[in-house]
Amino acid sequence: MADFEPVLKAVVPVAGLGTRFLPATKATPKEMLPIVDKPAIQYVVEEAVNAGLVDVLMITGRSKRSIEDHFDRAYELEEALRAKGDEDRLASVCKSSDLAIMHYVRQGEPKGLGHAVLCARQHVGDEPFAVLLGDDMIDHRDPLLTRMMDVRSRLGGSVVALMEVDPDQVSSYGVAAIEATDEDDVVKITDLVEKPPQDEAPSNWIIIGRYVCDPRVFEVLDRTPPGRGGEIQLTDALLTLARMPVEEGGTVYGVKFRGRRYDTGNKQEYLRTVVQFAAERPDLAPEFMPWLREFVRKNRDGSPGES
Ligand code: G1P
Repeated sequence: MADFEPVLKAVVPVAGLGTRFLPATKATPKEMLPIVDKPAIQYVVEEAVNAGLVDVLMITGRSKRSIEDHFDRAYELEEALRAKGDEDRLASVCKSSDLAIMHYVRQGEPKGLGHAVLCARQHVGDEPFAVLLGDDMIDHRDPLLTRMMDVRSRLGGSVVALMEVDPDQVSSYGVAAIEATDEDDVVKITDLVEKPPQDEAPSNWIIIGRYVCDPRVFEVLDRTPPGRGGEIQLTDALLTLARMPVEEGGTVYGVKFRGRRYDTGNKQEYLRTVVQFAAERPDLAPEFMPWLREFVRKNRDGSPGES
């Protein structure tokens, strides 16, 4: 079977406004909100690096400068921590700047995810690349991206990550019609619809925020008209690719993900994510968990805010 060129670059769109977390996101990018003590976006970059992608391009927008600062050196802070002999914190501060080779390009106008990905064209060139959306976090013990890159290198085309959800959730996502292949967790995509009403969804399989795209996607995005919400949708461009033969850069596969995914894009899920991460931290859990158990026990019949 043909082997296709390897994926080396990751594209991370971070230009969204983060209105769901206002006022916290008035002057701070939503991607910088901490999951315990690390910004959500750092987990995403770490995931790319763990999959071997050290070239990371962020598609940013206005008021996202603190993301660039976070992945850059902070000499004064490093000096102060070194002077105090605080090696642990020093290491944690240096880690984000040593992680990957970071690049940034601005998406001038908010014209949708497809448009954000199109902004990566010049940097990526004629190579397959990964796209990681910041609102979705994949547990580091579940190597989804590595599996997707493996599928791409053997079968070519593009690859999306899929997860099965309850029917009442499909209208918030891109939804796929799928066809089995001879690999249990790999399917062929036959249709894609961006955020369909529940009764028009082709299945319960939604796209979660991980993609491996053939570079042909750029040409397709360039001529993709605005879709759902008046925005240029990556989902629509992928549907065009799904209908093209693999020799022309077409064909889209799905990898069924059954691992742990954390959504940090809305308040309920964000809170759950923070609690789950704290529960697994050896430095915090011994004190935090007994408190949490007690809190739940005391408030079993209603939260402190309810009367
Ligand atoms: C985007 C995509 C959608 C996908 C989702 C995953 O939507 O357009 O197809 O299912 O990410 O999180 P957004 O959440 O940016 O509205």
